[in-house]
This record gives sequence, C-alpha cells and structure tokens, in this order.
Amino acid sequence: MCGIVGYLGNQQAQGVLLDCLGRLEYRGYDSAGIATIDGGKLGMLRCAGKNADLQSLVDRSPLPGGIGIAHTRWATHGRPTDSNSHPHTDCNGALAIVHNGIIENYPELKEQMEDDGHRFVSQTDSEVIAHLIEANFTANIEGGLISAVRKALSLIQGTYALAVISQQEADKIVVARSGGPPLVIGHTDDGLYISSDIAAILHYTRDIQILEDNEIAEICRDGATISLLDGTPVDRARIQIDWQQNAAERNGYPHFMLKEIHEQPQAVLETIKGQTLLADGAVLFPQAAYTTTSQFCLTRRVTILACGSSWHAGLVGKHLIESISGTPVDVDIASEYRYRPQFSHAGTLAIGISQSGETADTLGALKTARNSGAGILAICNVNGSSMGREADGVIYTHAGPEIGVASTKTFTCQLTALVLFAISLGLANGNLSARAAKALLQDLLRLPLLIERILAQSEALAGLARLFDGATNALYLGRGVLFPLAIEGALKLKEISYIHAEAYPAGELKHGPIALIDRNIPIVVIATQGPLYEKLLTAIQEVKARDGAVLVMATDGDRKIGAIVEHVFYLPATTELLMPILMAVPLQLLAYHIAARRGCEIDQPRNLAKSVTVD
Ligand code: F6R
Repeated sequence: MCGIVGYLGNQQAQGVLLDCLGRLEYRGYDSAGIATIDGGKLGMLRCAGKNADLQSLVDRSPLPGGIGIAHTRWATHGRPTDSNSHPHTDCNGALAIVHNGIIENYPELKEQMEDDGHRFVSQTDSEVIAHLIEANFTANIEGGLISAVRKALSLIQGTYALAVISQQEADKIVVARSGGPPLVIGHTDDGLYISSDIAAILHYTRDIQILEDNEIAEICRDGATISLLDGTPVDRARIQIDWQQNAAERNGYPHFMLKEIHEQPQAVLETIKGQTLLADGAVLFPQAAYTTTSQFCLTRRVTILACGSSWHAGLVGKHLIESISGTPVDVDIASEYRYRPQFSHAGTLAIGISQSGETADTLGALKTARNSGAGILAICNVNGSSMGREADGVIYTHAGPEIGVASTKTFTCQLTALVLFAISLGLANGNLSARAAKALLQDLLRLPLLIERILAQSEALAGLARLFDGATNALYLGRGVLFPLAIEGALKLKEISYIHAEAYPAGELKHGPIALIDRNIPIVVIATQGPLYEKLLTAIQEVKARDGAVLVMATDGDRKIGAIVEHVFYLPATTELLMPILMAVPLQLLAYHIAARRGCEIDQPRNLAKSVTVD
C-alpha cells in the first residue's frame, strides 16, 4: 500500500527521504515521488516505477532543502503513471501533498473545482486535496496553512493520512489522519520525521508520537502541535519503540523473507516471554483487559475475525481454543463478516488477528462486532497500531518488524499467542487442569529449539523445490488442526512464486479435486503423526495410484511414509496442537526456494501490499 514519509531538520531532506522510501519498499508500490522546499521554492520529482527510477531523477536534478515529503504509491484510482504519482500539487505549484487512503467524493469535488478554474493533471482522487487546500488558503490567507487544510478536509468524505508542505509557510509540515491509514511523528535532536510506517524511520528514531483518527498536526523545528480537526488541542505522549534498529535490515540474507523465516525461534520465544507465565500454569497478558478470569467466565463464544494469513492463524485458533478451553469458536473472513446481518453478540469475545493492526477490513469487522455487543481483543504485532487502540485489550506478538510482504514470523507468533490465550481461557473456565496447562507450556517453550532444527534443513527443502520446476498448479492437502497450514502453505506459494495452488482437507480429495491429479501437478501432503494419520496415508495412496508427484511433510521416525513415497521432509515431533507452529516453517521455506528458483521478486511480489488499509 501507499507509504508516506516526511522530514524537517538539519540534514538535506532528499537524502533522508529517499533512504526512508527505500525502507518502505516492502509495502508494495508502483511509483514514487518527492517534494522539498529550498529558499522558499518548492521542487518536486515523481515517476512511475521503483525508487531507483526516482533516485536517477534526483541525481540528475537534485532537490535541496531541509524540509520535504515523499511517497510510494500503490495504484487505486488511475494507472501507475508519472502524473498519477504523488506528490500532487495545486495550480501554482506552490504546495505539495502526499496522501494514503481514498477520497470517495472526489468526482463531485473535482467537477466543482474544475468549474472554478482549477486544472487537474492526474486521474487520482488525491489531487483534489491539493486544489481544495489551495482554494481555501487563497480565500483565507490569515488563517494559515493549517486552517486551509482543516477547511479542505471538512469537505472530504473518505479516508486519509496526509502530509502537506507549502512555499507560503516553508518552515512546517502539516499532517492529518482520518479513518484508517496510520501516521506517526518521530522526534530526534536533529529534526522531526513523519511516516506511515514506524519501520521506515526506525533507523533514525524510536521516539514516536502516534497521530490518532481525526487529528491534525503542525510540525515545526521546535516540535509537533497536535489537535483534533475541530481545533481542540491534544496532548499526545511519546512512546518508545523497542524494536531493534537492525531488525528492519537484511543482515546478509538475500531476502527479508528468508531472514524473517530464520528469526522465528527468537520471535516465538519473545512472544512467550512478552506475557507473564505463572508457576501454576496461568498466563497473564500485560495489555489485555479482556483476559482477566472474570471476563473469561463471561465468555460463552469466541469469534475470530481476520484476513489472509491472519485468518489462517484464526482457523488454527479455532482448534486450539475449542480443544483447550472447550469454548465454541467461529472464524470469519473480516471482509465478509462486516457485511452480513449481525445478531446480538452478548457473551461473545471477538478476536481480531492482524500483524499490521491496520487492515481496514479487520478493523471494520471488529467495530461491527462491538456494535452488536461483543468484547474486543486484538492479537497484533505493531505497538500503537489502530487495532491495538480500538480493542478493549491487546495481546502483542513480539516478532519485531516484518518487511517481507508474505507473512512468516508474524504468523507463527500469532499461533503462539493463540496457544497462550487458549491456555488462559481453559484455566479460567475450568476446562484445563493446571497440570495440563504446565505440560502444554513446557512443550511450547521447546518449540524454538525444534524450529532451529527445521531451519538447519533448509537445503533439503531447496532440493525438494525442484519438484515444482515447470509446474503451473499445485495442491496442498492436510487435515484437522493442520488443514489451515495447507491453506497457508498454498498461499505462500501463490504469493511469491505465482504458481497457482489450492488447498483441500485431504478427506475432500475424492469429492472433486482428485480429477486434477496427474504427473504434472505437485501435491504437498501434510501427514504428520496424529489422530488422522492413517486417513492421510489413504489419501497419499489415492494420489500415487494416479501418478501424482507427492511431497509429504512427515514426523521424524515415521517408517511407513518412506516406504510409500519418494519425497519426504521430516519434522520433529511435538504435541498435535502445537504442530502448526512447526509446520509453518518448512512450508515457508519450500515456497521461498521455489520462488528463488524461478527468479521471483520474493520480498515484493507483484500487486501485493504489506498493510492493506483500504477495504
Ligand atoms: C500473506 C499476508 C496477507 C496478510 C493479510 C492480513 O502472506 O501477509 O494475507 O495476512 O493481508 O494482514 P494483517 O495480518 O496485517 O491484518
């Protein structure tokens, strides 16, 4: 999705901004641009393509000045072209804006502005903001830039994170936010930074103020003044972000995705350590009001709402919570749930799962659940994210920044958080004994070591990736708590290698997908030892009988599988309910190695965005 950065300080803004844009690349984008002010004169460069293309423009025509804004665009309204790239400017080229979000009433506003003589050069919804600010600035110059921005925003319907600079007030950046896309202000002795993504400015500062919904800020050399859009002053505390600086760098790995896959032992451990494990097996969640025993006793039902991989984590969560705590769980795709009729959710705890904490559909679904009487808990990775602030309580995963577009370590950390949640709920409602809770926690604490063992076999998975050479389709089969891992494995493959992959519960094979099987379609079967193991063997035999090329994910020491199938990857054994956390790792590595063999852009797959802030 689109990314915003801004800088105001002692350094030359162009260098800082281009560096920050590089750190936003992972979010996915198709064009980039930058504007600075020097000696009271605005300069701007923008182009379709990548940051490197913008860098070439800047090399040819440098943009001096200590104040500027920049943007990476992920096209929504209008194709990725030079003129649709941000920043956008007014008729006189005196002010520049960068915008994330969608202006829903832009056609009407544009028509009106054109009638008033404004000339538009793009097909975007965003350009109208520049013209609205210009019109209001000209009409009321005494009110200043911030007042013109306020007036312009009062006419807009839609969502925005916005940054504006103007020649007339060349010493400030005005930023505003409403309805979704995030915006943070970073402080250093050297200057102030703004960004739609903490990871982009983490290299410079961890001292952050978060701009909330319906707020506007004037950022000058001596600080940021935040107020509501209606002018009410806001006193916003600064928070310290504890992510490691180098967590947002590749550290010698060819791709962020591979680095992040290898960070999982530590990330899972940090997610466990981020909560308080008590001697009696209970788990305390430091920031989750909805996880007290008394609240748990009121919880009759859990509804999990999420998108993409986070939804897959929710599907595993259903097995975990139902098995461990005996509480019924519904899992819903957030973008579907929010548009269905709702019934009373009294006694329901709605859990939103989101690595970014900014996914518009999940935020919308949680609000819908709240309006029907549900309590809201968020499981997310980004401290201070919208979802964390929207929910009654939040369980933070401690994966650190995830830069690769395909989620890996945040997924395994979500599963870890769900295990902890299920244990806590089970102890509170009496479904789980203290002894069983302690045993499960001990098994959980062993997982980082077992993940290390799987990572040490990465080369074996690189070899198995050859099975996918020339494939255009693949099938993933699993059952029970591991079926969601089949879906997750298929999604990872689709996202980064562009091979079409589908996942089925293995029992469904004979009800239709078996028609697909021939020697050209690789089939990954998750067949670790568990209650449904024998049934999975039957599915494997059915595939083999039709010449399917099978790769089985099996448990260490399984002698039967080796006798039936040529290609097997063996994982260490653990409790059945914890196996999804281990299983995620070889499936991620397999997709990674397949994509690497095909020469794909692994960290920034085409068309994908890291944080989906539009619905
Ligand atoms: C897949 C992936 C996406 C996200 C989805 C939800 O690798 O990353 O499917 O899981 O867009 O994002 P979050 O978790 O930020 O709500």
